[in-house]
Amino acid sequence: MSRAGSIDPSHRRPQVTHVPLTNSQRLCAIADVPDGGAVAAHASIDGVPEALIVLRRGERIEAFYNICPHAGRRLDWAPGRFLFDSGLLVCAAHGATFTVPDGKCTSGPCRGQTLLPIPIALRDGDVYLG
Ligand code: FES
Repeated sequence: MSRAGSIDPSHRRPQVTHVPLTNSQRLCAIADVPDGGAVAAHASIDGVPEALIVLRRGERIEAFYNICPHAGRRLDWAPGRFLFDSGLLVCAAHGATFTVPDGKCTSGPCRGQTLLPIPIALRDGDVYLG
């Protein structure tokens, strides 16, 4: 048996070799991502369906796997519903906080770690993989 603080989430950290540029998948509209907030997105990466999170602060938009570096749990408390406190994204599982849009953990059990980023491109008002 392992304690929550000693779980190795590496089994849930996808190893991204590349995202084919020819297979650019639309994640969401830029306008759908609230300033200082997040939206959930889904994509097939290397043939595997993955849950993603798109974060925005002003003109900066970043995307990450929806996997907390602490214990590999999803960050949202319900699908697509994220918690925020004082401008920080809060993991619904154990309360780790992350900067927006950088995804750096500032407090909690995975302090100093970062959400796993996924490359994106902004085109014609939309967010795409790639
Ligand atoms: S899974 Fe524990 S803080 Fe996110």
